[in-house]
Amino acid sequence: MSDLQRIEQALSTFLAGPQASDGPPRLGEAIRYAVFPGGARIRPRLCLAVARACGDDAPAVADGAAIAIEMLHCASLVHDDLPCFDDAATRRGKPAVHKAFGERLAVLGGDGLIVLAFQALAQACRSRPDRLAPLMAVVTRSVGTPHGIVAGQAWECEPFVTLSQYQRAKTGALFAAATEAGAAAAGASPEPWRLLGDRLGEAYQMADDIRDVVGDPALLGKPVGQDAAHGRPNGAGEYGLDGAVSKLESLLAGTLAAIPPCPGAEQLREHVLTEARGLLPAGVALRAA
Ligand code: IPE
Ligand code: IPE
Ligand code: MG
Ligand code: MG
Repeated sequence: MSDLQRIEQALSTFLAGPQASDGPPRLGEAIRYAVFPGGARIRPRLCLAVARACGDDAPAVADGAAIAIEMLHCASLVHDDLPCFDDAATRRGKPAVHKAFGERLAVLGGDGLIVLAFQALAQACRSRPDRLAPLMAVVTRSVGTPHGIVAGQAWECEPFVTLSQYQRAKTGALFAAATEAGAAAAGASPEPWRLLGDRLGEAYQMADDIRDVVGDPALLGKPVGQDAAHGRPNGAGEYGLDGAVSKLESLLAGTLAAIPPCPGAEQLREHVLTEARGLLPAGVALRAA
């Protein structure tokens, strides 16, 4: 089974369970609408790739960590699209959750997904309770404050933030959780894995900033020009388009250099390289490749 199949199956099974499907039917519908069909699932695939590189001795734990991270990501998108944040009408090629279900169910659906993520993590660790504490530590760090998504989004309410601080908190932190959780799920120490996720996440946000300036909304499935419209820090706005592409290249080179020694390092390097190549605008080659 491919990693993507593992992820889709684990998400479907978990979200068909009573935690997500009993209760107010429209809330359950909004939650599933936010998760399916997915986007690139880059974070849970990264989590499983790192778990494999570290031996993947407890696949159910790795699956639980991967889907917890994806549910947290989906929740962040639902909230990010709300009128009080980016006021985006579309996501993943369809109406955003607040457009399809109304604002109240978008707020509650996002909240519900956050809680479900931690339930999935706890459930996955039933057979390996020793893995729960390290997983909780890395995942909570990535979504809370001062380092995680909550802080990242809140920086938008401040008069000044550096681009790197903003990108690392709103996006880098969850990528760091993906690499750290992949290691922790396989019983390895998570700390050496943080830098890899942190750098890939910052690079990913730089690429998203470039797409926000030059991307095609029909292909992206979400609006462009959002950062300029809302006065948000944007890599292309700060460095110019060419400067942002150079910055993206150097972040990607740093990403490859951050893979720690492990039994599956070579395979993981290939995985990261493939993801990295997909982030570069057409015609730009990765210097480290
Ligand atoms: C969108 O994330 C938000 C950013 C951090 C740039 P993705 O580009 O991973 O979105 P999906 O999950 O593939 O739709
Ligand atoms: C991405 O923010 C990070 C989160 C959703 C927390 P953006 O606002 O830059 O992402 P898109 O472009 O809407 O996907
Ligand atoms: Mg935003
Ligand atoms: Mg947005």
